[in-house]
Amino acid sequence: MKDRFRVGFAIMSGQYDFDKAPDRRGTDSLKWGRYRGRDVIPMWVADMDFVSAPPILEALHKRIEHAVFGYALAPAGLPDIVVQWCREHYDWTIRPEWIVWLPGLVPALHLMCRAFGQGGDEVIVFTPVYPPFLSAPKRTDRRLICCPLREEKGQYTLDLEAFRNRITPRTKVLLLCNPHNPVGAVFPPDMLESLARICIENRILICSDEIHCDLILDPVRHKPIASIHEEIAACTVTLMSPAKTFNLPGLNCGLAIIPNADLRRRFAQARAGIVPHVNALGYAACLAAYRDCEPWRQELLAYLRSNRDRVVKTVKETPGLSMIAPSATYLAWIDVRALDLPEPAAFFEQAGVGLQDGNEFDGPGFVRLNFGCPQSRLKEGLHRIQSALTKV
Ligand SMILES: Cc1ncc(COP(=O)(O)O)c(C=O)c1O
Repeated sequence: MKDRFRVGFAIMSGQYDFDKAPDRRGTDSLKWGRYRGRDVIPMWVADMDFVSAPPILEALHKRIEHAVFGYALAPAGLPDIVVQWCREHYDWTIRPEWIVWLPGLVPALHLMCRAFGQGGDEVIVFTPVYPPFLSAPKRTDRRLICCPLREEKGQYTLDLEAFRNRITPRTKVLLLCNPHNPVGAVFPPDMLESLARICIENRILICSDEIHCDLILDPVRHKPIASIHEEIAACTVTLMSPAKTFNLPGLNCGLAIIPNADLRRRFAQARAGIVPHVNALGYAACLAAYRDCEPWRQELLAYLRSNRDRVVKTVKETPGLSMIAPSATYLAWIDVRALDLPEPAAFFEQAGVGLQDGNEFDGPGFVRLNFGCPQSRLKEGLHRIQSALTKV
């Protein structure tokens, strides 16, 4: 692979051209379909506009050429590839039998609420957060307890005191998002360990959604909370997936890593008959992603870093906007409270940019912008945002 280096915002060289992306209009895309027939750049749902890595395309072509699409099993070798991925990237030794395949992580969030505790028990989350964290407890007859993230020294952190204060004997599950969507924080191991200790003391199970863990932009390392200590692993269900990193959310393949056999059994019981199997194409893409796409991921990260820096710079230069730079993800959580807009996302949509409103994340006065797109599209989106604000 050729070297890649950055000059200001420009990315030079590299094997993959993230500047080019196909037109997604008229392709039945959730992201693009929302604004069908309108001049609005979609920068909302977490799906990137980039084409998949060549090894993934090859694997899918090969699978399709076989032309039989019966119920699928995880390909032989895939569990070992995941084991290797966790060891190489996170220094975490897992066993193949701990892996439970899933057609999506949102069902897993719901299963976690449903499988453990009784109706009326409490599920605790740090807010603002990815909307299904807020809806899963309610949909499963649990009480949602919100603990706000704290801003400290220009970073979002977990407020452990506030967390402890919210726990009651009915608090059964923590839904943790790390790296955190929407703020892009990567929580340090010591903070995670302290959080886990509080959970262990209070017999709270941890569901750690780490779907964004392969998208770290800063020179910090992701630490799966379950990898910190065996005692933590025993009360944790870790969720991972190639969907965000390799831009495969429409192929429905994810996984839970559950070291504790009893938790694994209860999780499997809760999913039986409700959650479908992973499909053959999802498995094929997942295998190719984790086995063959590391060079693509490295180039993607460089591209996203550059996009992130552009967003941060623009936000800094724009009166009324502010943000803490995300250390991970391709999502920017932008503070627009100073503008006092009654409906921030609707305002920016009028200006031709489709953002997600902070209200959906329990973060009123913010918008979330997805910068997983070619630089030219990002520039145009940011330009539209700035132009709209000159008229406020
Ligand atoms: C934290 C988090 N969890 C889960 C998901 C969705 O996962 P899936 O599409 O596998 O259900 C997302 C998508 O943006 C996410 O950000």
